Amino acid sequence: MKVTVVGAGKYGSTTVQRIAESGLADEVVMTDIVEGLPQGLALDMMQSRPIEGFETRVVGTNTYAETAGSDICVVTAGLPRKPGMSRMDLLEVNAKIIKDVAKNFCPASPDAVVIVVTNPLDEMTHLFRDASGFPHQRVMGQAGMLDTARFEHFVAEELGISPLQVEAITLGSHGETMVPVPSQVKVAGKPLTEVADDATIEQLVQRTRDGGAEIVALLKTGSAYYAPSSAAAAMVEAVAGDKDEVMPVCAWLTGQYGIDGVYLGVPAKLGAGGVKEIVELPLTDAEVSALRGAGNAVREKCADLSKLGD
Ligand code: APR
Repeated sequence: MKVTVVGAGKYGSTTVQRIAESGLADEVVMTDIVEGLPQGLALDMMQSRPIEGFETRVVGTNTYAETAGSDICVVTAGLPRKPGMSRMDLLEVNAKIIKDVAKNFCPASPDAVVIVVTNPLDEMTHLFRDASGFPHQRVMGQAGMLDTARFEHFVAEELGISPLQVEAITLGSHGETMVPVPSQVKVAGKPLTEVADDATIEQLVQRTRDGGAEIVALLKTGSAYYAPSSAAAAMVEAVAGDKDEVMPVCAWLTGQYGIDGVYLGVPAKLGAGGVKEIVELPLTDAEVSALRGAGNAVREKCADLSKLGD
């Protein structure tokens, strides 16, 4: 199993570390435009192998030659937000980077499954798919796993219980039209709506929606990467292990939830070859209509993207 991670910044390097330490891959290649950065990080991680006890080879490079024949690729290349910026403010600059990555990576790894994490997520996933020409089920985005983990964290903290007792899901876009789904949240097996009042739930939903911005404001430079890299690595594991695991991911919709022809966060079965199936949950009418609204917002932005030149 060979995995490539494009971008050796905070998100990319922690993702490489998590994948390497899990032992799921024989080789992880990390490529970045900054000379020496991926090589130095790779050497450092390789030297942790005797202590951590893993055998995965980590290779750092500034080209794409070493990525040839990859089974899975995680795309993290791009600028992160600064305090006060929305993910959408990154649209133009990251669009150029995503097209560049697709052009360089895809020809030598024509069968790879690609997981995009660069923001604005839904639009960059769409763009990578178009630039690659890959089938839609082999290109997906990571957002829902992260937003869901944030939602579960906030619920657990609010109720003073273990995060492992909370089961939540968030759908929609990775941005203002994120759709956390309170009707599906279970706390130690009970519906959240039975153990928390509406005002508390609304406040948890809002904090989840602003979860990334809260961290950006605290860090002042760069954005979150511990929980994001956990989310990306979990998706890699599901694909590499052909686990058929249902996770919230940014996937291409073809009529599910009454939405067609757009990338959006929905529950999907992940395994070999990428997205095997979109799962349709019994959502409330309000949740379905929020999901459709999110789909329309992403579709509009993608139309703007197609107007940008190369
Ligand atoms: N090819 C390869 N790497 C690139 C390219 C490119 N064309 N352009 C930029 N990079 C690299 C940068 O050199 C940098 O090392 O991408 C890396 C980004 O790293 P960080 O600035 O640390 O950003 P990070 O926190 O990793 O976030 C990356 O993920 O969550 C999103 O919004 C975030 O879009 C951002 C992406």
